[in-house]
Amino acid sequence: MNILAVSGSLRSNSSNTFILKAMMALAPANVHIYLYDGIGNLPFFNPETEYDALTTVKDWRRHVQAADGIIICTPEYAFNMPGVLKNALDWLVGSGELNGKPVAAVSASPLATGGSKALFSLENTLTALGTVKSEHTLLTIPFLVKKLDAAGVLTDEVTRQQLSNVLSALIHTIEQIKMNAVE
Ligand code: FNR
Repeated sequence: MNILAVSGSLRSNSSNTFILKAMMALAPANVHIYLYDGIGNLPFFNPETEYDALTTVKDWRRHVQAADGIIICTPEYAFNMPGVLKNALDWLVGSGELNGKPVAAVSASPLATGGSKALFSLENTLTALGTVKSEHTLLTIPFLVKKLDAAGVLTDEVTRQQLSNVLSALIHTIEQIKMNAVE
């Protein structure tokens, strides 16, 4: 099983990317989670160039298409998801790679809200894109800086368990969809 992980932050020391790495470490042996770090290379979405053969866009769509499921972990910028993430998702609206795809969405913030407004807006966009998700595959992580050590390793056991639960729910959804496809 292949799961694509996407961080909403382009920062080299992004705490959201560290959370995705923590999820990679939690994955069972038969589940491969790989980080897609190319969304910062995408041009601004323009419907006029939506189906042009842009290499970066083709690469993004190909990775999403090939994945059995997606995990997005995002910071909140000004009460919303970062523009770079929304832009990446806009490139998939017409081409439909996320339609029917199981997703987990996590927001993480140093504030008490855990980036809940970003998660709310991301959830709406994922609904518009036809993804498969549930309350079990959504999580906000508050007070994030207290939960990572200086090297970006997740040290908070409660958060680790919550991420493990989200991952299990995502894997379960993927397995259900695969089973239904065989029947
Ligand atoms: C933020 N931050 C922030 N946090 C939050 O909880 N709600 C918000 O609305 C915002 N707005 C915001 C705007 C901008 C422009 C920046 C740069 C930051 C703080 C943000 O959550 C924090 O910087 C995170 O650590 C960013 O995530 P990464 O880059 O560490 O993954």
